[in-house]
Amino acid sequence: MTEPDFVPAVPLAELPEGRMRACEIGGRAVVVCHSKVGVFALDDVCSHAFARMHEGRLRGTRLICPLHGASFDVRDGHVLGAPATKPLPAHATRVVDGVIEVAIDPAAPPQPTSA
Ligand code: FES
Repeated sequence: MTEPDFVPAVPLAELPEGRMRACEIGGRAVVVCHSKVGVFALDDVCSHAFARMHEGRLRGTRLICPLHGASFDVRDGHVLGAPATKPLPAHATRVVDGVIEVAIDPAAPPQPTSA
């Protein structure tokens, strides 16, 4: 099995629990979230329409879109609340030497780049 391609994203010390940060990883817009149950990375573009998820809110393990209020489980991107019906692609994370690293899911669908 091939090792996922992890890329440094943000120092853990710069991302306290409850906060999130937009990053570009391999040309993909990603939001790194430090939730109460760990660090996760999801696409930063909502699956409903074009909105940047990092401009929304992180409440526990729920990531809430700033535009129409859809919510997703930060752990795997599944939909928790309408109007979104498609999950947010989720990407693997790990922490190495105090730095959060992200590996983009090679199976993630193409990402829209504008509204
Ligand atoms: S764009 Fe996110 S809920 Fe509509």
